[in-house]
Amino acid sequence: MNTKKNWLNQQQQLICERRSVRHFSDRQPTKEQIDAILEAGRWAPSGLNNQPWRFAIIREPELQSSIAGLTKYHRVINEAPVLISVFLDKDMLYHREKDIQSIGAALQNMLLMAHSLGLGAVWLGEILKNGEQVCKLLELPSRYELMAVIATGYPTEPHKNQEKGRKPLEELVLLRR
Ligand SMILES: Cc1cc2nc3c(=O)[nH]c(=O)nc-3n(C[C@H](O)[C@H](O)[C@H](O)COP(=O)(O)O)c2cc1C
Repeated sequence: MNTKKNWLNQQQQLICERRSVRHFSDRQPTKEQIDAILEAGRWAPSGLNNQPWRFAIIREPELQSSIAGLTKYHRVINEAPVLISVFLDKDMLYHREKDIQSIGAALQNMLLMAHSLGLGAVWLGEILKNGEQVCKLLELPSRYELMAVIATGYPTEPHKNQEKGRKPLEELVLLRR
């Protein structure tokens, strides 16, 4: 029976067990799986419901290899069967800071959906230093600003809940009154 407690446990598990995955097998995720990840991004909250995110899905190895040349995480980019580049549509800005925060929410939704589908994923930000070149490679107009690349695919090993430290709550909570 799916009691409220079980449901809570499942959500906690999903959130707490997601880890960045940087090693992928050759097995291709299906279009349905990628669409489910995009749907999860689409349903993120955004200021004024502005929905400033845009997505580019890349599966062509040659294109991946060109993108890989723009980051020190080239091995991850080349190994991942699918890349999802996430852009801010600057022509749709209403408040830059809030629009970027909204895209962060979309990205986290997407990582959680990938994890729930049994896929691995990692949010790549280092490549932002070459965001304009990524746009050029993808032949996208300059109104699109790169926010992140998600590399995704099947993990090479069954999911391990590797210990990735988190600060204890006592260090994070400034005030309870
Ligand atoms: C804004 C942002 C940028 C990141 N950029 C990179 C990156 O360029 N390369 C990488 O391997 N991981 C990157 N990560 C993943 C983090 O390293 C990772 O989330 C963090 O170490 C915690 O590990 P976990 O995701 O396994 O819990 C990024 C994460 C965020 C949120």
